Amino acid sequence: TKDVYILAIESSCDDTSAAVLQNGKVLSNVVANQKIHEAYGGVVPELASRAHQQNIVPVVHQALTIANIDKKQLTAIAFTRGPGLMGSLLVGTSFAKSLSLGLNIPLIEVNHMQAHILAHFIEDEAQSIPKFPFLGMTISGGHTQIVLVKDHFDMEVIGETLDDAVGEAYDKSGKILGLTYPAGPIIDKLAREGNPKAFPFPKPKAPGLNFSFSGLKTAILYFVQKQVKENPNFIEENLVDICASIQYTIVNIIIDKLKKASKETGIKTIAIGGGVSANSAIRKALKDGEQKYGWTAHIPKFAYTTDNAAMIGIVGYLKYLQEDFVDASISASSRIKI
Ligand code: KG4
Ligand code: ZN
Repeated sequence: TKDVYILAIESSCDDTSAAVLQNGKVLSNVVANQKIHEAYGGVVPELASRAHQQNIVPVVHQALTIANIDKKQLTAIAFTRGPGLMGSLLVGTSFAKSLSLGLNIPLIEVNHMQAHILAHFIEDEAQSIPKFPFLGMTISGGHTQIVLVKDHFDMEVIGETLDDAVGEAYDKSGKILGLTYPAGPIIDKLAREGNPKAFPFPKPKAPGLNFSFSGLKTAILYFVQKQVKENPNFIEENLVDICASIQYTIVNIIIDKLKKASKETGIKTIAIGGGVSANSAIRKALKDGEQKYGWTAHIPKFAYTTDNAAMIGIVGYLKYLQEDFVDASISASSRIKI
């Protein structure tokens, strides 16, 4: 059989990414991060779309060069249709549509949230492919979802955040502590030196398998403000303990919901993804769950957890096999569901 070469484009938030896949394997996966948002402590949509516009051509060029593929060899083009920031999505969508028209090859639309989960299906020795049915958990700066995955394209969201995403909880806590954005990896690192039980923060109440993190952020803000009033050096003197306490609270929230989801569905295979799945305490808690609760935990290769085009490419490949194509009348959609 003929090899299938997919060019995949991801531009839903603040990373411009292009990847080339040969069947289920990644030949290249180029990601251009946008440093510009750091100064603002979060993604500024208008700046993100401008940066995508500048990055997209060189990023695609680089992905083809690394894969050692001429664009004339491409079989199909896959792109992120949504969900995400409209201005950002439009850049990738328009680019993918134009290139597919120019090359006269099939166009494949990809749901970004499905892609975070199906990233586990990329053939790579650094990760393992989960068996159906499994629980997919996507945790990042923009998403917090537990998904019941029965098949590649048969999935159902069974829990999600009602307000902030997990990564946002980390980043906003970091802002309160004066840490730079994104604060998640910094808090994770500092937390390893601290006492997780130093400052007990309340666990927010969210119904069922849903999450809520905005109350936690407020609790941390009020706590820190109160302490700083009494001791202006409170943050500096207690930074590792504050970080460890925040991390302990967040990880407990996540693991508790996973335990609940596993109990309710009877499913013990758990696959995580999204930028926050890089978190050392979450990884450890999942591994511990294998002993404690009989879970089988799948943690993807780091390059496939944060926003990247390789995960768009694997969905593109799976859809290619089903000849699930779209025509150029398709438009980006910022709020499409899984
Ligand atoms: O997937 P991602 O790169 O972008 C999206 O938000 O879609 O995720 C970035 C988020 C940020 O909120 C960042 O603070 C968080 O992931 N993050 C972490 C860690 N590494 C990244 N949060 C906690 N611990 C980490 N080690
Ligand atoms: Zn994402």
